[in-house]
Amino acid sequence: MTTHITLVFALILLIVVVRALFKQFFNPLNRFPGPRLARWTRYYMAYYDVFKGGAWIEHLQELHRLYGPVVRVAPNELHFGDPRAYGDIYSTSSKFIKDLDMYGAFPFPESVFVQTDPRQLAARKALITPFFSKQAVLNQIEGNIRSTVEKLTCQLAKNHSPGQIPANLNHALRSTTFDVITTYCFATSPDAVSHPGFHSEVLIGMDTALPYVPLAKHFRIVKVLIRKIPDWITPVLSASLRAAVKQLGDVEAMAEKFLANPDAADDSHRTIFHSLWEGTGTGERATKRGSHLVTKEWLADESLFLRFAGSDTVSSTCVVGCRYILAEPTVLRELVEELDNAWPDKNVNLGIEVLEKLPYLTAVIKESLRLSHGVVSPMTRIISSGGAAIAGHFVPEGTSVAIANSFVHLNTDIFPEPGCFLPERWLQPGSQDLEKHLVAFGRGPRSCPGINLAWCEMYLIFGSIFRKLNLTLPLTFVHPGKQRTVLSLCTQKTFCKLAPKKGCNISTLVSSGSSQYLQ
Ligand code: HEM
Repeated sequence: MTTHITLVFALILLIVVVRALFKQFFNPLNRFPGPRLARWTRYYMAYYDVFKGGAWIEHLQELHRLYGPVVRVAPNELHFGDPRAYGDIYSTSSKFIKDLDMYGAFPFPESVFVQTDPRQLAARKALITPFFSKQAVLNQIEGNIRSTVEKLTCQLAKNHSPGQIPANLNHALRSTTFDVITTYCFATSPDAVSHPGFHSEVLIGMDTALPYVPLAKHFRIVKVLIRKIPDWITPVLSASLRAAVKQLGDVEAMAEKFLANPDAADDSHRTIFHSLWEGTGTGERATKRGSHLVTKEWLADESLFLRFAGSDTVSSTCVVGCRYILAEPTVLRELVEELDNAWPDKNVNLGIEVLEKLPYLTAVIKESLRLSHGVVSPMTRIISSGGAAIAGHFVPEGTSVAIANSFVHLNTDIFPEPGCFLPERWLQPGSQDLEKHLVAFGRGPRSCPGINLAWCEMYLIFGSIFRKLNLTLPLTFVHPGKQRTVLSLCTQKTFCKLAPKKGCNISTLVSSGSSQYLQ
């Protein structure tokens, strides 16, 4: 009997091994070059993502240098270096779904971001996109963004003027964007921007949570553990981990509170919960329409994602922009001159409709978006049935493909001197053609629905900071951020001393350390 069982097991093992070898040796992706180890295991990528502090993107550049425009970077994944691939992968008509090997790592599985089912995705996007339309942003939140940015400039001037400690611009700007997204989506403000040193518990929690994303990408148990930490463990965790866990508790509590009485909320400010609730309908109506039922899990996951998506991206673009502007005296001079002329009395609020007509400010924001890349990690998509041609190469169905935004934004043919911050490149005759290569917000069916809110925030942040505060050049210029495989660019800590304009003697210090969550 025992011999029979052993034989059966040996046979199964043999079949598994032969199948694996067969798949390896006759894999249609074998014709694509790449490191040998990457053909066999995703742990090749994990080594750079996890053990080399998220250096995968930097390594991708090296791989393309060695192997050419298409590299097999994992058993089932190709990365493209040729910008033509961008249009093929992320086109408006693209039916390619997100690859869960990457997106499954995020601890908000019910959110729109992780959806792969095309029908569910279309239903979700139809609920979320109108909430962030330009009209909605202007009607509902512009005033709040202005007052939050006003608070930011006051706090900077009050607490970080000469003789006081320098401000951490990363924290300052993230506090601002976090307050805005939370107010807009949930009609409640954590007022992180008023927190001394801009280092509120909520930011500590976010900084602590982010490094777990690359870890969870390769070790799924991490994601499960993040969402299932039992209450009795919480007291023994470090303060920063407790802050991260508290974020989860906070969004669940918000969702629970809303569901307990969806009609109770203030009609003057519709939250994202209202949009999802009213758009979806509940009970039978929702089921009939093939839509979702509104569950606590869905609301909590969507909230958690929106808090990250709506804060980190905008602030990192602003930090990158500020650092480049401060390092380039001509850019700073030109920007300040344009703002001074358009905004003669800085104590009077200037509407977004004036700021968005300023050509140099707009060009500065575009250049900041280009050099911060939006989402830094390659946004992997699965080739649909029948296969597809990507940048002239036939790729079989089921293959995961991507081209990281930086391979477009730093391409020398499209953007000469790609490492230089040159707003002028957006102001040349014919520079409208460049717009299609600015892909920070993504393209196609999965592009960013928060683009209007983001632009509104960036106009008001850049406009107010450079109109109202004096900043000096950094002592040494350090590249603003390494492209790390957390979603947005991890900007190096930027400390600034600032003061209101007129008669101020301000210095800016740039630390050489990297962002907190890379240490
Ligand atoms: C400078 C600011 C921003 C940039 C550069 C940016 C960039 C992006 C990119 C590239 C994607 C596609 C991600 C992917 O396919 O993996 C995306 C998705 C998304 N963004 Fe943004 N974003 C910004 C701000 C915002 C804001 C303020 C919100 C508002 C809450 C937002 C909400 C979203 C949502 C909901 C998605 C998911 C869309 C989907 O999966 O179909 N983003 N963003």
